[in-house]
This record gives sequence, C-alpha cells and structure tokens, in this order.
Amino acid sequence: MSTPSAVTPLRVALLGGGVVGSSVARMLVEGADDLAARVGVPLELVGIAVRRAGRDRSDLRVDPELITTDAAELVTRADIVVEVIGGIEPARSLLLSAMEHGASVVTANKALLAEDGPALYDAAHKNGVDIYFEAAVAGAIPILRPIRESLAGDEVSKVLGIVNGTTNYVLDKMDSTGMSLHEAVEQAQALGYAEADPTADVEGFDAAAKAAILASLAFHSRVSIADVYREGITHVTAGDIAAAAAMNHVVKLLAICERTTDENGVTGLSVRVHPAMIPRTHPLASVREAYNAVFVEADAAGELMFYGKGAGGDPTASAVLGDVVAVARHRVGGGRGPGESSYADLPTLPMGAARTRYHIALDVEDRPGVLAQVATVFAEHGVSIEAVRQHVIDDESGLQQQRASLIVVTHTATDAALRATVEQLDGLDTVNEVTSVMRVEGS
Ligand code: NDP
Ligand code: HSE
Repeated sequence: MSTPSAVTPLRVALLGGGVVGSSVARMLVEGADDLAARVGVPLELVGIAVRRAGRDRSDLRVDPELITTDAAELVTRADIVVEVIGGIEPARSLLLSAMEHGASVVTANKALLAEDGPALYDAAHKNGVDIYFEAAVAGAIPILRPIRESLAGDEVSKVLGIVNGTTNYVLDKMDSTGMSLHEAVEQAQALGYAEADPTADVEGFDAAAKAAILASLAFHSRVSIADVYREGITHVTAGDIAAAAAMNHVVKLLAICERTTDENGVTGLSVRVHPAMIPRTHPLASVREAYNAVFVEADAAGELMFYGKGAGGDPTASAVLGDVVAVARHRVGGGRGPGESSYADLPTLPMGAARTRYHIALDVEDRPGVLAQVATVFAEHGVSIEAVRQHVIDDESGLQQQRASLIVVTHTATDAALRATVEQLDGLDTVNEVTSVMRVEGS
C-alpha cells in the first residue's frame, strides 16, 4: 500500500539476513533519513527473506513482521531487490524473477555471477533494470565501478589482485611468524576469517570467481569461473616462504587477469589464480592480515591500487548500500546504469600461454657439469635464466654425498615452457629433488 506522503518511497526487499544481510538491514533502517536525502525519496524496507523460520532475529533490529521465508513472493513486490543469500539456487531464480517483475537488483553473489553472470545481465537488459554487484569482489573496496565506469575510456592491460582475505591472512602469518600453513589456517578459523570448511578459500575457488568477474569487466569479454586457471595455497610450504624471503619477496595468492598473445599470435586473456612470489617493494606486498587490494595497470592511467577490507558484515554492506543508492537514483531520475559490455569478446587462453617467471629450487649433486646440465634443460625449452644461486647442503646422512641447493630464477617465458623445463629437470639423474617451484610476478 502506498504511503499518504507526497513522495512514493522505493520498496527494498532484502533476500538474506545473515552476516551481510543483517548489516544491510541495520544500515538501511538507521541511515534512513540520510539515504532518503541522497536518493531523493525514502527507501522502505518491505521484507527480509530468510531460510529458517522461527529463529531469533532480534539482531536484524526490524519489525518481526518483515521477516519471511517466502522469498519468491517478496521479490514480486519490490522496486529494488538485494540478494545476500549466496550460492547458485535459489539466488539465480529469485534474481531473474525480481527483474521480470521490474525490480532493479543488487547482489554480493560472486559465485553466481562467475558461473552465470550473462543470464543475469541479459535479464537486466531485457527488463530495462539495473544489476549492480560491487560487493561481489573485494567486499568494501570500490573496484568494480572504477573498472566499469571510471576506466571505461582507457585500456586496462592487467589486473593483479589479493581478493581473498583468508588466504592473505594465512600467507602473511606464515611469512611474519614462520608458522605452518596448518597452524595459520587454524588461527584464521579461530578469528572467524576462515570457514569451518576452508576449501573455497584455501583452494582458490573464491578468488577464481572474483577473477572471472574482474576479467569480464576489465576486458569487455565474457569470462566464467570455468575459464579461470586455479591453484590454491595448500601446497605452499614454510620452505617456499623462506625461499621468497631470501630473494626479498613475499608469497601472495594472486588473482591475475591480463591481455596476452599466444605463440600462434592469437590475442586473448590469461585469467588465473595461484600463489606467486612478489617483490617486497611491490605495493601488493604491503597488504597484510586479511586485507584485500587490487592493482590495476591501464595504458593512460598507469598504475592504480585499491585497498581495504574484503569481507565482514559492515564493510560488505557498505558496498551493497552504495549500489542500492545508485540503482535507486536511477529509478528516481530515470535511466539505467551501464549494462554488460562484452563487445571485445576476447577468448580465454589456456594456462600454458600465460607469460610468467619461475623460481625453482633444486636439490642437486654437487659435482662438475651439473650446473651446465641444468642450464641446458632451460635452454632446450627456450627459457632464459635471470639468476642462479647455489649453496652446499650439509651432509647429515653420513654417506659423504656432495649435494647443493640450486636456486634458479627465470626471465619471462610461457607457462608451458616453464612446466616442461621443470618436468625434464625432475627426470635428471643429478637432480635429487625439485624442492620448490613458484611463479614470480610483479616485477
Ligand atoms: P550467511 O550464510 O551469513 O547468510 C545467508 C542468509 O541467507 C541467511 O540469513 C539465510 O537464512 C539466508 N538464506 C539461505 N538460503 C535461503 C533461501 N533459500 N531463502 C531465503 N533465505 C535464504 O551469508 P553471508 O551474509 O556471509 O553472505 C551472503 C552473500 O554475500 C554471499 O553471496 C557471499 O558470497 C557474499 N559476501 C559475503 C561476504 C562476507 O564477508 N560474509 C563478503 C563479500 C561477499 P537463515 O538465516 O535462515 O540461515
Ligand atoms: N571468504 C572471503 C575471504 C570473503 O576470505 O576473503 C568473502 O568473499
């Protein structure tokens, strides 16, 4: 029913009342006057959909009458639908239904956007409504709107992001305290950063979804999570962290999106998530604890860095509310925000085409000719060596073996050539073990 005031409020339906939803509800209610002034009309919270009936919802601090388990009905009576349920279904169906009923939508759902974004963008276009999703990547950090709008006149060449706070916390603790991966994950769980099942974070799925969204926007092409090469942090050892430290580098889980050209001259995108060493002097190296940051390289703008909290109820709700205000303003003033831009239609290239550098640590026999043999393998695969460091390994076995630790850092080469090099090195009689292999980025 409309209010008797001269101004008709915009009806906001909130799907989800969990970590993010409860902060969104509180900020909508507590900030009502300011939000109304910023939008031009009041925003009226018309309902909050949750899954479980009968639970104490006092944390939402709203009229209990607003709580419903019938999300499908709620989306039919709103001007703006905010989805903070997460997962694929029923979030997808609810958002599609909301748009078919004429609502603009705001979502924080990276998993859904990375899996099926185009279906949602098409629905927004068809129904003449907005879909905004700033919170889906790096929580509070304004990064999608700068890429989608502020940099729309420039050419982005590379996006390098720390977009998962849990893994950044874990790697930071391993680096700063020397603790093991297992201990650091346990600490992240105790602090509430990591879930009881930390798979989505530590195996890189969360970062891969965000990489797909970043790549789509930065390169005006459709990129889904299935296109993203993914390696998590579960194989990162204290030895890798120490090897990085010895080179004045630090290990980070990076989401990397860049334009590249393969050996056949095909221009496409490399979109990947993996641990990598970056120099301690790189701006991303200073991103500590559970913070996120996204480093963007653009032709005219040069280097830009966006930094802040990537998760948590209030920080994420800040991004959600910013989107709510944006889409509400469009409804008041007429018009829409930018829709999907996928005109460039660049293909995603396989990981082998990515150009990167490697840090390789080998346990080798320390006798004449071994270094030459190792160097020959690199040369055979067209991989140029940038630096070599060697130290003798103390023999504790009593076998009087002469062994050395050989560290090789390469120049940029294709990932395919680097992998083939490592595979062949592993097969050499003089190589006792390939002890560590890690990509090097950011220099
Ligand atoms: P929570 O698990 O804390 O909350 C999910 C909410 O959705 C709960 O209120 C739940 O109901 C409700 N819900 C689940 N299924 C249904 C359903 N079928 N119908 C109606 N309601 C349902 O999730 P978060 O708040 O942490 O995350 C929400 C979204 O925000 C996700 O997409 C996530 O990826 C994204 N996000 C989260 C961040 C964070 O820091 N938490 C950061 C950035 C993005 P009930 O309360 O009854 O269980
Ligand atoms: N689990 C994510 C992180 C937050 O650790 O950054 C939600 O995207």
